[in-house]
Formats: sequence, structure tokens, C-alpha cells
Amino acid sequence: MIGLKDVVYCRLGTRDLAGAEWFAVNILGLEVAERRKGAIYFKSDARAHTLCYVEGGREQEATAFEIATSADLQNAGAVLENLGHAVHYGTPAECDARHVREFIRFDDPSGNHIEFVVRPETTAQRYHGSRDAGITGFSHVGLCSTDPARDELFWTDVCKARVSDRIGDAPLMRFGTIHHSVALFPFHQPGIQHVNHQVASTDDIQRSLAHLRRNQVTVTFGPGRHPTSSAQFLYFAGPDGMTFEYSTGVCEIHDEPLWRDRQFHFAPKGFCQWGSAPNIAAFKD
Ligand SMILES: [Fe+2]
Repeated sequence: MIGLKDVVYCRLGTRDLAGAEWFAVNILGLEVAERRKGAIYFKSDARAHTLCYVEGGREQEATAFEIATSADLQNAGAVLENLGHAVHYGTPAECDARHVREFIRFDDPSGNHIEFVVRPETTAQRYHGSRDAGITGFSHVGLCSTDPARDELFWTDVCKARVSDRIGDAPLMRFGTIHHSVALFPFHQPGIQHVNHQVASTDDIQRSLAHLRRNQVTVTFGPGRHPTSSAQFLYFAGPDGMTFEYSTGVCEIHDEPLWRDRQFHFAPKGFCQWGSAPNIAAFKD
């Protein structure tokens, strides 16, 4: 079994690094933490970075999860190899490019690129975006799954994730107390389905809605409230077909032994208790 602490960053490929930077700063509201040749790093909280745009295509895409120690990472590599996953051990240069001490990369059963990292760097500096988006931090990712039942078993049986709730066959899974850090959504191919940042309040959701409309950004879902996590949300379209989400008020699960996962209707009732309907096609190109 592999114990994971939290989701720590996403890497997204783009053919237009300058355009992606403009969106991340001026629309999403992130802070540029660092620029390197072919890559730009963004802060959304006290961590050194939580999003990295890399020149390239979907092959650059990755979602990273923290693992406690080097010994745990070696064990995880062995477990994954025993299950038939090809495991790449990060080189010093690759570790430096991710601000981690060590990492391994592999594909989940759907083919999503996953990285398990040890000791991701944090900073003493708090995040401050150039616009007042109210972001409090990077919080979760949605991953596409070509077989949610198979992939749920991988994330729960192998990686110790716990299912908080399901929307249709889409499991929302936690590693700690936050209702979900990763969710799996049925789709015909792998890929990151959406990237979530938490914001401080409903006011931030509404301010961003006006900001998105002023800038002709496509709102794909919301504002609404998820009946699962009770978070208020807003989804919108970003560069390279990626969907971003702001949400506020995600619930925490502290009564771990007593919590039972609940089954919600797939769409639209399971997604929004205010009656907003997701534009599923717009969630993924
Ligand atoms: Fe989400």
C-alpha cells in the first residue's frame, strides 16, 4: 500500500507559454514564482509552486502527490512495478525542475501521468496575485478515467485514498480531511479534467464571475453549490482546453470512522443543488 499526503502541483503542457502565463496571471489570478527556459511556475499558496506550464503538448501533463519519505517512495516504486506499471525515477535535473527532493513518475491505469514526490519545496512567502481573486490555495484535481471502477480500486486499494462520495460512477476521494483531493470522471481518454483552486468566500466567486465575463472567458458551469462537498463553485475554460474551478466552503471529514460514502445522481442534480447544469462537453475538448 502507498500512503499519500496531498496533491501538490499540476504540470500542464502548452504550445503558447506567453498566452498561458497571461491567462494564469490576469484571469486565474496566480503569482509568477519563477521563469525558466520553456517553463513558468506559479504560486497559489505558501508552497514554492502549485502549477507549472511547460512548453509542449499533453505528454507534459502530470499531477503530483506528496509521499512522506524516501523509503516510502522506494516502496511505492516497487509496489507499482509489481503491478506492472513502468516507473521512472526522477533525475537530479528533473527533481530540480519540480522543486522536490525525489520523485517517481508512472501512469495510472487510465494512462494519466502521475508523479509521487518527496519533500516538495515550500517558501516563507505568502502568495499574492496581481488581481484580487481571493485564492487561498491549490486544492484538488479531476482526472479523466476510461474505467472509473478499475481506477477507483487503484486509488483506494493501492494508494489508500478513501471515497468520500460518488456522482454516478465518479468517485470523489480524500487523503486527509478535505472532502476530496482527486476525483475521477468517465471519459474516453486520460487527462486532467479540471484544476481547482479554493477561494475565500462567495464574494470571490461572484467577483470572478464578473471578471470572467468582462474578459469573454467561457464559464462552463456555475455559479452553483456541490451537494457532495457543499462547496460553492465556478468552472471556466482555460488555455489548451483545460478547465479551471474556483470553489469555497469545501467540507472536511473529521469523523473518519463514521463517514459513509454517499451516492449522488450523475447530472445535473449530483453536481449542483442550485439547479445549474454542467456543460459536460466543455469540461474536456
Ligand atoms: Fe472540482
